[in-house]
Amino acid sequence: MRHRPRRLRRTAAIREGVRETRLHPGDLIQPLFFKEDLAESVPVPSMPGINQLPLDRAGEVARQSREAGLGGVIVFGIPARKDAEGSGAWNPDGVAQEAIRRVKEAAPELCVVADTCFCEYTDHGHCGVLRESGEVANDATLDRLARVGASQAEAGADMVAPSGMMDGMVGAIRKGLDSSGFPETAVMAYTAKYASAYYGPFRDAAESAPAQGDRRSYQMDPANAREALRELELDEAEGADIVMVKPGLAFLDVVTRLREAATQPLAVYNVSGEYSMIKAGAERGWIGERELVLETLTGFRRAGADLILTYHAQDAALWLQEMA
Ligand code: PBG
Ligand code: ZN
Repeated sequence: MRHRPRRLRRTAAIREGVRETRLHPGDLIQPLFFKEDLAESVPVPSMPGINQLPLDRAGEVARQSREAGLGGVIVFGIPARKDAEGSGAWNPDGVAQEAIRRVKEAAPELCVVADTCFCEYTDHGHCGVLRESGEVANDATLDRLARVGASQAEAGADMVAPSGMMDGMVGAIRKGLDSSGFPETAVMAYTAKYASAYYGPFRDAAESAPAQGDRRSYQMDPANAREALRELELDEAEGADIVMVKPGLAFLDVVTRLREAATQPLAVYNVSGEYSMIKAGAERGWIGERELVLETLTGFRRAGADLILTYHAQDAALWLQEMA
């Protein structure tokens, strides 16, 4: 036979040489949850292996992340007090700002991304301020987002990552960073973030479930892909340095389409529900965790993602180091 594809699958060395997609620890970003006034780590029941962390653990976790060779960490803060505006989000001494400061101090080379949103900070759990009608007020949220971004940059964040899907959020944050002396802080935009049932475990971890209603008036409809291209156009025009698709597994077509259309680097968020399903299957002995995680992360890269935000980051990075 002239064509025998199996010739190039015969040995590990040949397969290594012809491999099209590679996964490195440096592609991976680990989400971290810091909770104010916590004395010890508290496991998140729906996310085995993930903890709410006290600020005192920040330095240690930062050093572990650096040693694993991660591309970075993304910091979420859970404040002790919430209010209608989510004013804790721009407190210069707030929990996220303090966590960022401590991570940066312990591992200055580590890339630190800050999640820039209000849902952990508002008493109603929405990603912005509400009108009397209960709707999220887009433009009133923008000024406040700009303040949050600047406070995170001031604390030392290398990138700020607006996740609330407000129209104009990238431009408002870019302008806020530039006018407050942080022109070099990057914006990682949650460009195509869908209203997804895969976020359930995260809302336990971040204590950010909306008290009433859902997020469908601001997050995207999972049925839409062309709309993601429109969001991409807007985010790039507003100055996004990195663009993102979220969640990952059910939206790999969107990853591929955005990779083709985007000029900026593309991230994918392998979200909490995707993590928890793998952990649950592994706990039952139904699937092999390590192989499944590496196959899944490789799939994101093959689909076109440059960077992967994933709760598996630390584990996967150590597995990759072992295999190298
Ligand atoms: C909040 C936010 C969410 C996630 C990241 N930032 C959840 C939501 O929109 O309710 C989801 C992350 C995950 O599920 O892992 N702006
Ligand atoms: Zn939010």
